[in-house]
Amino acid sequence: MCGIVGYIGKRQAFPIVLEGLKRLEYRGYDSAGIALYDGSDILLSKTKGKVSALEDKANNEMSLKGNLAIGHTRWATHGVPNDVNSHPHYSNSGDLVIIHNGIIENYASIKEELIKRGYTFQSDTDTEVLINLIEDVKKKEKVKLGKAVQIALNQVVGAYAIAVFDKNKPNEIVVAKLGSPLAIGVGEDEFFIASDASPFLEYTKKAIYLEDEEMAVVRLNKKIKIRKIKNDELAETYIQELKINLEQIVKGGYDHFMLKEIYEQPTAIKDTYRGRLLVKEGIIRMAGIDDHLEKFLNANRVIIVACGTSWHAGLVAEYIFENLARIPVEVEYASEFRYRNPVITSKDVVIAISQSGETADTLAAIKLAKQNGAFVFGVCNVVGSTIARETHAGAYTHAGPEIGVASTKAFTTQITVLTLIALKLAKESGAMSKSDFQYHLQELELIPGKVEKALESDKHILEVAKKYKDSKNCLYLGRGYNFPVALEGALKLKEISYIHAEGYPAAEMKHGPIALIDEQMPVFVIATKKGHYEKVVSNVQEIKARSGKIIGIVTQGDKDVKAIADHIIEVPETLECLTPLLTTIPLQLLSYHIAVLLNKNVDQPRNLAKSVTVE
Ligand code: G6P
Repeated sequence: MCGIVGYIGKRQAFPIVLEGLKRLEYRGYDSAGIALYDGSDILLSKTKGKVSALEDKANNEMSLKGNLAIGHTRWATHGVPNDVNSHPHYSNSGDLVIIHNGIIENYASIKEELIKRGYTFQSDTDTEVLINLIEDVKKKEKVKLGKAVQIALNQVVGAYAIAVFDKNKPNEIVVAKLGSPLAIGVGEDEFFIASDASPFLEYTKKAIYLEDEEMAVVRLNKKIKIRKIKNDELAETYIQELKINLEQIVKGGYDHFMLKEIYEQPTAIKDTYRGRLLVKEGIIRMAGIDDHLEKFLNANRVIIVACGTSWHAGLVAEYIFENLARIPVEVEYASEFRYRNPVITSKDVVIAISQSGETADTLAAIKLAKQNGAFVFGVCNVVGSTIARETHAGAYTHAGPEIGVASTKAFTTQITVLTLIALKLAKESGAMSKSDFQYHLQELELIPGKVEKALESDKHILEVAKKYKDSKNCLYLGRGYNFPVALEGALKLKEISYIHAEGYPAAEMKHGPIALIDEQMPVFVIATKKGHYEKVVSNVQEIKARSGKIIGIVTQGDKDVKAIADHIIEVPETLECLTPLLTTIPLQLLSYHIAVLLNKNVDQPRNLAKSVTVE
C-alpha cells in the first residue's frame, strides 16, 4: 500500500505532486520519488525515507520545472525500502515511467520471460516488471500507450492503482485501477491523479473515482473516457462534487494530527448522529437500516468483520447488539474469516467496519460473504471508498478525514453508528421498551458534552504519562463493554510508543497475566461505576496485593478504586453501554503523551500505515 499522485496541466507540477505526497504519507512512508517531464526529458529523483527527504534531494539534484509529474510514497511490499526500489520506475528504454500502489502477484514468471527477451532490472520490485511488460507489449503490438497498458494488465494477477506516462507523448497520463484506490481530479485544462482527493482539494472539487478493472487515458484538452480493462467497453464517467475541505485535513494548530483528532471527537460523534438521532421525535433514522430492516430483524445472526481498531469497535458492538437488541453476534478478524472457510448463509447479516474503506482483508471478507448470499452492511468513514461501494448498504461515520495512523475518532464514531443501529433494532424487534429506548436516545445525545469533560483531564493525564513513560510493559484491564476498550488502550500504546502492552478481561488476569505483576508493572484498569464494578474492585485488590501500580479509569466521584489506586482518571457518568465512548478518551491521551515524551513519531509510527491495502 502506497500513495500515488500525478499532475498534468498548466501549473508547475513538482510542488503539487510533492505537497500531495505529504498528504498521502499516511499510506506509507518508507521511501518517496517523483518523475517530472521538463519539456524534453524525464527527470527522476527518489530516495529512501520520507517525502521531506525527497524534497531535499530533488532540490539538490534536478530542475523542478515542468507541467507533468508523477510521484509516489511507498510502504514496501516487494524489495526492501531503499533508493533503487523506490518508485517511480523506468522502462528499459527510459521512455516510460510508472508509479504503482498494489502488488503484482505473478511478477516472477513475467520477469523471467522478460529477462529471456533481453530485459534487465535494477530493482527487486514487481512494479519495474510491470512497466517493462507494458513497454514490451507496446513495441511488439505497435500500439499506443493506453492500449499497451490495457493488454499488459490483462496478463497480470494482483492489485494496482497505476499512473504511467511516455516522454514521447507528454500530453497524457494513463491510469488504471484494481483493488487499490485511484481518484482523478478534474480541473480547467488540468488533471490530478491521487490515491484520495486530499492532494487536489485546493485546486478542484470535481473528482472521478475509478472502479475496479477500469482505466483511462487522461489527456489534456480531452474529455476523460473510462474503459473496462477486460473488454475495452466504455464505462460511465461520473464526476462527483466533493464536499470535504482542505482545513479538515491540516493540523489546525495542534502539534500532531492524532491530538487534533482526539479533540475532534465531541464534534465527530455529534456529526455522526446528526440527522439520525431524533430525540424529540423518539426515533432513529438511518436509511441504510430502514431500507433493509427485514434483513436485520430476520437474521440468524450478525457477523462483524474488521481489522485493527475497527475490530475493537466490532467487539464493543457485540456487547451492545446482544445486550440491547438480543441479536446473536460474532466478531471476526477479517484476515482469519476470509481463509477459514466460514459457514455463511443467506440468513446472515455481515457488518464490515473500516475507517479507510480500503483494507484488503476486510474487502476480501465482504466478497466472500456476498458470494455466500449474506447481506453485507458497511460502516466506513471514507466516502466513496471501495468497501462503501462493495457493500449492499451502509452507514458512514462522518468523522472527517483521519490522518494520524493511530485511529482515534474513527473508533468512537464507529461505536456511535453501531450503537444507533443496535438501538434501532432493539426498538423495532421489541427487545427494548419505548421508555427505555427514549432514555438511551437522551443519554447518547449527551455523549459529546461528556467527551469534552473527559478531555479536560488532559493535563492530569500528562502527569500520569510522565510517571509511566519508561515502563517496558503495561497491562490494560476491563470487563464487559470495557474489555474491548482495554484491548484498544493497549493497541494505542503499542502503536505509537513501542511499549509492549496487553489488554485483558479483568477476571482472566488470574489465569496468567497476574504472574507478570510486580512493582514495575503499571496496570490501567477501567472501573466505571456501572458494569461489574465490585468485581473489578476485587481485581484491583489482587493487583495491589502483588505491588502492581494501578491507574484507574473511574466514574466521577468514585471512592473505592480511588482508595486503592496509585492514580485515578475520572470520566463522567453515563449508561453502561455508552461508557466505552468515554473511557477510551483518557487511554488515547495517555498513549499520545507517552509517545511524545519518548520523542516518537506520533502520526507516522514505524512500520505502520493508515490504510493497509495488502494482505
Ligand atoms: C491499519 C491502521 C489501523 C486500523 C486498521 C484497520 O492497521 O493502522 O489504525 O485500525 O488498519 O483499518 P480500517 O481502515 O479498515 O479501519
